[in-house]
Amino acid sequence: MTSYRDHHSSRHPSGLRRSVLTVPAINRRALDKVAGLDCDAVIFDLEDSVAPEKKDEARANLLAFLEKTDLGHRERIIRVNGSDSAFFRDDMDAVLACMPDAVLLPKVEDPDAVQSVADLIGESGAAEGLRVWAMIETPRGILNAAAIASAGRTADSRLDAFVVGLNDLRKATGVPAAAGRSYLVPWLMQVVLAARAYGLDVIDSVSNDFNDLAAFAAECSQGRAMGFDGKMLIHPAQIAAANTAFGPSAEDLAEARLVVAAFARPDNAGLNVINADGRMIERLHLDEAERLLARFQSIQDRKVHAT
Ligand code: COA
Ligand code: MG
Repeated sequence: MTSYRDHHSSRHPSGLRRSVLTVPAINRRALDKVAGLDCDAVIFDLEDSVAPEKKDEARANLLAFLEKTDLGHRERIIRVNGSDSAFFRDDMDAVLACMPDAVLLPKVEDPDAVQSVADLIGESGAAEGLRVWAMIETPRGILNAAAIASAGRTADSRLDAFVVGLNDLRKATGVPAAAGRSYLVPWLMQVVLAARAYGLDVIDSVSNDFNDLAAFAAECSQGRAMGFDGKMLIHPAQIAAANTAFGPSAEDLAEARLVVAAFARPDNAGLNVINADGRMIERLHLDEAERLLARFQSIQDRKVHAT
């Protein structure tokens, strides 16, 4: 048996997508903040947070900003307007000029939406490492998540991550915002399952209330428990809680070290299942444990660089 990470070939080298901060490309003051923030990834938004008459200015901001700014370890993603919009072509030109790590497509509802953008990138020739991320934020997007994930993985392996968008989904379905997200959980889990089936990362939705950090931390824990890799964030105040919830806990680390130590013992060499103080551990746990320790190490390395 292989875990989802084994056949995941296109992950970002750090393996970290705990905190994915979105920033409106029209907001130069906010843009200038991101290089100093402790987030794993930044989504530069050209879509919902930018008014139609401001799209040109937002693209120009973004080009100038990315040209002059080194974002270090932070993964760079540009969210474009939908391919059916008047802005899409110019947005894609900006993407190809900026060469971020990924382009995020809004309201993806079928495999064609991913394939056509992968084709467009392929035809441009210059975009070897450019990945595609897909927002799953409409009823059809949720229903077709498995088909999108499956087709996207074979389309030159550009599809790399799903991001769930609950603001649009709530609007389209009439499910109101409520603590615990009870009625949304089945749909969220369906997206997680589709992502895992085809080796994609999956990022939980934004949470609009950036003042109630206790509620936000609870929602991060819930997202972690559902299997998400991280959370899309709207405000710098949300970064710390996401890094904590989606990073390895003290218990995770202790467990991973125990598993690695157990398999390192000479008398356990060649065994696939071992008895660790009355609990079975399997070799498949060793792979997970090693990956978790590697992720923890890259967080530690980053702290050293930051000081
Ligand atoms: N990225 C970087 N910096 C941000 C930021 C973000 N997403 N959101 C706020 N900041 C900065 C502000 O510029 C401000 O800096 P300043 O003190 O130097 O002026 C500081 O953080 C504090 O911000 P605050 O005053 O609390 O909020 P605000 O009124 O400036 O912004 C929002 C509130 C919601 C408008 C803003 O957070 C935002 O635009 N978020 C992203 C929205 C988005 O992308 N939506 C689309 C996807 S759902
Ligand atoms: Mg949206």
